[in-house]
Amino acid sequence: MKKVLVIGSGGREHAIVDALSRSPQVEKIYCAPGNAGIAEKAECVAIGVTDIDALADFAASKGVDMTVVGPEAALAAGIADRFAAAGLRIFGPTKNAARIESSKEFAKEMMDKYNVPTAAYRVFDEFEPAWEYVKNRPLPAVIKYDGLAAGKGVVVALTYEEAEEALRDMLLDESFGKGRVVVEDFLDGPEFSFMCIVSGEKVYPLAIAQDHKRAFDGDKGPNTGGMGAYSPVPFIGEDVRQEALDKIICPVAKGMVKEGVPFLGVLYGGLILTKDGPKVIEFNARFGDPETEVVLPRLKSDIYSLFDAAIDGKDFETEWSDKSMLGIVLASKGYPGSYEKGAEITGLDKINGIAYHMGTTEKEGKLITAGGRVLMVVAEGETLAEARDAAIRDIAKISCPALFHRSDIGYQAINK
Ligand code: AMP
Ligand code: GLY
Repeated sequence: MKKVLVIGSGGREHAIVDALSRSPQVEKIYCAPGNAGIAEKAECVAIGVTDIDALADFAASKGVDMTVVGPEAALAAGIADRFAAAGLRIFGPTKNAARIESSKEFAKEMMDKYNVPTAAYRVFDEFEPAWEYVKNRPLPAVIKYDGLAAGKGVVVALTYEEAEEALRDMLLDESFGKGRVVVEDFLDGPEFSFMCIVSGEKVYPLAIAQDHKRAFDGDKGPNTGGMGAYSPVPFIGEDVRQEALDKIICPVAKGMVKEGVPFLGVLYGGLILTKDGPKVIEFNARFGDPETEVVLPRLKSDIYSLFDAAIDGKDFETEWSDKSMLGIVLASKGYPGSYEKGAEITGLDKINGIAYHMGTTEKEGKLITAGGRVLMVVAEGETLAEARDAAIRDIAKISCPALFHRSDIGYQAINK
């Protein structure tokens, strides 16, 4: 029987812990630092995700058989390198391999070199030439800060005023930190998330999902970490999935091996289905959040065996439920801007689906809000429409005046 340590404290980690708890091989799950929901299935340990020495010491002292990493901050801090040096088994890429997410420039260079379809781009590190370039090009302008910005360093500007402001923020405002900007062509078409477990040249695809980045219904409002997701995605056919594997995921996996930075972990392709086929908007070096919360509940295979096979580069066939999963995020009013914490949440015991905790904590026996994204309510259905109705019924049973949510998750697949 195995002991596992999961790193992170969000809904993604809650879904990973939940999937691991279904494994017949797993007897004990630790989560650092975890949250109030995770605490029901794992022992939460108060160590921060970038405190990699303390995490390695903890894993060694408890005889942990495998560590699974959630957040990019831990990867960028070099957790996989640190664990490997200590002879500890870990599922997650090295710091160098994680640059496929942490450096947009590295990602673009890889795509150029290995002919992976993506938007054409230019890189700038000064405001004047960047603005000169953008103001002479068609809108929308896609402007990306090159550095870790937790998925929020991207502005799709519909006006030149917005574009100029974004460039000023990113290149002139010290608070953003010294960085570069990638300006790229706007890709038109529906977006989808293709997460694949990758081990060197081996690729183990996971079910496709779709995230909803904007804060409000109708894809209005600011970009967020993601306000809801669903899986499967009916308008992404098997032909598109195969094309994404052949032209995007596999060439990158092979390319990373050739470059001497073999990838182990989840290679997440944020893709857009254009009229010329799927193209890359971004890569992440980890499970997506909130996609993981709708994908892992559909995985019928033992996830511990899957991680184990990947770490050793062995073959593994995944099996998936054909049910639909749809999840809606409950976020603190004000998110992704400033918001208050500490509001009490009640009614979770009455819901039929799953409530993955994204940012909660417990205080004096009460469950309270502790983040921007607080909960994700995930429901199952024979169809996506059924799953969404069930999720909305569940949300109606949850009381917390400090939260808001979108009501149109899945609209591209449902209202047609
Ligand atoms: P990212 O953080 O790179 O996922 O970007 C945030 C969002 O901006 C994406 O989910 C897309 O909706 C949008 N986006 C980013 N790059 C492009 C692009 N080249 N064309 C169209 N939309 C984009
Ligand atoms: N859902 C997008 C992300 O995880 O970055």
